[in-house]
Amino acid sequence: MKTRDHSRLVAELSETYAQHAPKCASLNERAKRHLLDGGSHAMRLTQPFPPRMTSARGAWITDEDDNSVLDFWQGHFANILGHNPEVVTSALARAFEDGFGLQTGFEDRLQVEAAEVLCRQTGNDRVRFTTSGTLSTMYSIILSLAFTGRDAVMKAGAGWHGGHPWGLKGVSFQEGPDAGFHFVEGRGLPSAVTDEVLITDYNDPDRLRDDFAQHGDQLACFIVEPFIGAGGCMPATTEYLQAARELTEQHGAVLIFDEVIAGFRFRAGDLGNLYGIQPDLATFGKAIGGGMPVAALAGREQIMKLIGREGGSKVRFSGGTYSGHPASMLAAKTFMEYLVAHENEIYPRLEDLGERARSIAETAFAEQGIYVRSTGGARDEWPGGSLSLLTFPHQEAKEVRSPDDVRNPEICDVELGEKVLQLALLVSDVYTMHGLGAVSTAHTEEDLDFLAEAYKRVARLFKKHL
Ligand SMILES: Cc1ncc(COP(=O)(O)O)c(C=O)c1O
Repeated sequence: MKTRDHSRLVAELSETYAQHAPKCASLNERAKRHLLDGGSHAMRLTQPFPPRMTSARGAWITDEDDNSVLDFWQGHFANILGHNPEVVTSALARAFEDGFGLQTGFEDRLQVEAAEVLCRQTGNDRVRFTTSGTLSTMYSIILSLAFTGRDAVMKAGAGWHGGHPWGLKGVSFQEGPDAGFHFVEGRGLPSAVTDEVLITDYNDPDRLRDDFAQHGDQLACFIVEPFIGAGGCMPATTEYLQAARELTEQHGAVLIFDEVIAGFRFRAGDLGNLYGIQPDLATFGKAIGGGMPVAALAGREQIMKLIGREGGSKVRFSGGTYSGHPASMLAAKTFMEYLVAHENEIYPRLEDLGERARSIAETAFAEQGIYVRSTGGARDEWPGGSLSLLTFPHQEAKEVRSPDDVRNPEICDVELGEKVLQLALLVSDVYTMHGLGAVSTAHTEEDLDFLAEAYKRVARLFKKHL
C-alpha cells in the first residue's frame, strides 16, 4: 500500500490554526529557545505548535488565546473525573491552609491511608509509591531480576512501559524487510540490557507459548499491559492473560501487569481483577494520583520484601526525595477513595460515554464514505471503556484487533489518524490523542454534540482531500 501524502492538507490546517491561536503560536517560538522542541513532553508538542493552557476545568481547557478547547487527552489519560475536580482541589486547598502540603521529608498518615486503599482494591500485599510510572516499571523489572537471579525480560511489542533501558525496545512499529515491533528505540541504551529484552506479540497466546518454550527458563519476568494504551487502546483477551499467568508460573518467571493506564480506569482497582488474574507485581500511575504525580509498584509480599529491611534490603529501592509527597498522597487517597465510593456511577457512565464517542466518530466518517474503526469498544468478553483510538484502515471492513493493525502503515493510514486528524480537530477546538482519547465523567451531552460537529467538519474536509 502506497503511503498517502498529506502535506498539502497539513499546510492548510497549520495556516488556519496559526490564525486561530496566534498567541500560542508566538509563545511556541519563545518556548523553543530554551525548551527542547518547545516543551517538556514529546506527546504534547502537537505540530505546528501546541495549545498552551492557561486554565482547565472539567472537560475543557482554556488556551493563551482564550479559546475553549474540549479535551480528550485529559492529563495523559489520568483525569477520569475531568480537569481539576472539586473533590481533590478543595481537599488540597484546605490542607495548604492548615500548613500541610509541600515537601517536608517526614512520613505521614495520608500515605498509610493511600497504601491501604490501593492494596485493598488491587489485591496486593505491599506497595512503594514513586513519582512516575517509568520508575515503577523499572523497579518492577529490577526486582524480578533480583528475585529470580535471571537476566532476560519479555515484553509485548508496542507496549509502552516508560523511558528506561528495559522499556525502550519494541515500542514503535518500524518498516522495512524486518518490519515490526522488535527494535531498540534510540541511541545511548546499554546493549547488555536491550539484548536481554525479548519481544513477543500482544494478544497472541500461541506465540507466547512458543516464546516461553524457547526462553521461559531464562526469563526473570513477563511485563504486559492488560489494556494496551499507546500500542492501540485495546484490552488483552482472557486467553492471553491466562496463558501469561500459567506460563510464568510454570517457568518460575515473575508476571508483571503494567496498569499505569488501566489501574482505576475501568473499575475502582486493578484491571487484572476483571479477568480474575492476580499478577505477582503490578504498577500503577496516572489515575491513582488524582492529578498529582503519584505512581506505585505493588505486589506479593514474598517479592516486595526484597526491597525492605525484612528481606535484607537486597534491592536498593530506597525511594526518592519526592516519594510519598504530602500533597500528592492527599490527592491520591482522596481520589481513590472517591472512585471507590462512587464506583457504581462512575464506571458505567464512562463506558456509556466512551461507546457514544466511538460511535460519533465512526458515523461522522461513514457519512462521508470514509472507513474508520475505533478501538477500546465492547468486544468478546470486554465491556468497553473510556479510552479509544481511531484508525483509517486501507481495506474496507477490516477489523482492527492488534497493535500491528493500528501501527503498521501497510494496514492503516497512521499519519492521518495520529497527526492530521489531531490538527484538524484542534482547529475546531477539540483536542484528541490517537484520533480520539479518553472521556471523563465531566464530559456532558453538549460536549458530545460539540465533538460530533467537529468530526463531521473534519470528515467533510478529509473527503475533499483524500
Ligand atoms: C502503560 C504505561 N506504563 C508506564 C508508563 C510510564 O509512566 P510515566 O509517564 O508516569 O513515567 C506509561 C505512560 O504513559 C504507560 O502508559
